[in-house]
Parts: sequence; C-alpha cells; structure tokens
Amino acid sequence: MMNDFLSLADLSADEILDLLALADDLKKKRDQKLAYRPLEGKTLAMVFEKPSLRTRMTFEVGIYELGGLGIFYQTKLGERESVPDVARNLERWVDGIMARTYSHEVLVELAKYASVPVINALTDQEHPCQILADAQALRKHKGDFAGLKVAFVGDGNNVFASWAHFAARIPIDLTLVCPAGYEADPKVVEFARAHAKGKIVVTQDIESGVAGADAVYTDVWASMGQEEETALRAKAFAPYQVNDRLMAMAKKDAVFMHCLPAHRGSEVTDSVMDSPQSIVFDQAESRLHAQKAIMITLMK
Ligand code: CP
Ligand code: NVA
Repeated sequence: MMNDFLSLADLSADEILDLLALADDLKKKRDQKLAYRPLEGKTLAMVFEKPSLRTRMTFEVGIYELGGLGIFYQTKLGERESVPDVARNLERWVDGIMARTYSHEVLVELAKYASVPVINALTDQEHPCQILADAQALRKHKGDFAGLKVAFVGDGNNVFASWAHFAARIPIDLTLVCPAGYEADPKVVEFARAHAKGKIVVTQDIESGVAGADAVYTDVWASMGQEEETALRAKAFAPYQVNDRLMAMAKKDAVFMHCLPAHRGSEVTDSVMDSPQSIVFDQAESRLHAQKAIMITLMK
C-alpha cells in the first residue's frame, strides 16, 4: 500500500491498475450523478509554486465532491521557512498535501517530513497524475493497453518521464521522437528499458517513430521554468510539430493526446487539436477521476 504518490516508478502494475479501475468507477458514479463522499471532513493542502488550470481545478473540485475541503496555497517552498518546517506545520492541520514544485527533491523532502500523504502535482521531473489520467482516457478509447504504441513527439521532459515509468509497469510500446539534445534523462530511459515488457525507443526520425502509433502525444516545447529558452526550442522543435502530415504517419485510427496547455500553432496545429482524433479534453476530464482515485486510496 502506497503512502505517497510521488512517482509512477514507485507503484506496481497492480497498484496502477487498481487506481485506474477506481477512477473508472468514480467516472461512472459522477456520470450517473451519484453522490459519493468517502473523504467527508478531510482536508487537502494544495501547494503551488507554478501556474495551473487543470490541476488546481480538478483537485479542488475532486476533494469537494468526495466530501472534503481543498485549501489553495501559492508559495515558493523553502524561501520563507524550511521545507521540513512547512511539512511539520501542514501535517498538524490537513489529511493530505498535493504539491506542484519546481524541484523534485523539494517534493520528496516534503513527503519525507510530512506524516500525511503527499501527491506529486507536477515537478520539473515528473507528472504522474497526468499520466494516470491519460491512461484512463486512452483505455476508454482503445479498450485495452495490450499492444498499444504511444509515440511521444516532443520534449523528453517531465510528462514523458512519467510515460516511461508507466511503460515500465504496464506493457505498452513507447517511442520518444525528439530533436537531438532534448532526449529524456538517460536514467529514465534505462529504468523503463530494464522493466518494460514493450519496446522503449528514442529516435530523432519522425517517420519511423510515429509509424504504427495508436496514440500521438505532445507537450509544450518550453515547460514552466524554461521560458527564456522559448526561441531556441522553437527552432529545434519546429520539424516536430504535430500537424496533419505527421498524424497521417500514425495508424489511421490513432488518437491525438496533449497534457495541455497547448500552444496552438507551435507544438500542435489547430487542425489536429480540433480533429475527431483529438482526445485532449477527455484527458483533462480524467484528471478529476484519476486524482479522486489517488486521494481516496491515500486519504480514506
Ligand atoms: N496538464 C496540466 O497539468 O495542466 P495545468 O498546468 O493547467 O494544471
Ligand atoms: N511539461 C509541461 C507540462 C505542463 C502540464 C511543464 O512542465 O510546463
């Protein structure tokens, strides 16, 4: 049984599948307008060092729907007081903490010193809530994970890292298609290759990388905190834009996925974002169900 939700690499395949089954059940209950409040009276601290639309909304709506209360707190951890002291304060008041930080180490430190569960709501290294939600949305459209190929076209950053951790546990093929210099941390790729049942490929070649893909995924070219690199990255990533020509290289029934926010006209065109293949808003909806599943599992 997990105590925190910091990384998909910490979870077993069964733990991931249990969370997804619970997320599917929570979606069903919500679609049927059935009230379900297993976290009645519980509180969640929502700590943000970075901006957010989806993560903030879905955690706050999620904890409310489960009967609890979310408390938004914007800060830069470690500046006004030490991270351990923040943890030792929060644990006296709340039943769980979700944190979006720059440094992954700060998140890990928070979890180390807080006796209540800590949930990773994105760090510079990982975005596990996103990929759990993505997996729910992908399975809804494709039925099963077995034999699926996900082509991640873009920066080998936090979102890709969590996909690599997912592929280490759940048998899918995962290909990172990116320009030279923007590959994932070699440790992330090594970890995935050491544990994955499917193929883990990193390539600069768009055509072979996207061929046979059931899902084409992309993310912003410059992540939060990398804004000063925007122009440089735009140049390097330009050939990797997900447009109609690139989508035509994937399977005919491939879905298009994006964690959002999307920079339309940069990493993806309007025509792809708004096409019938796009499941980006199903992914956004799934954030709610997947994170409710995480909170119930950790905080009930
Ligand atoms: N995908 C995602 O985490 O969105 P926000 O940054 O808006 O929370
Ligand atoms: N890679 C992006 C993901 C945003 C949800 C970032 O870190 O800004």
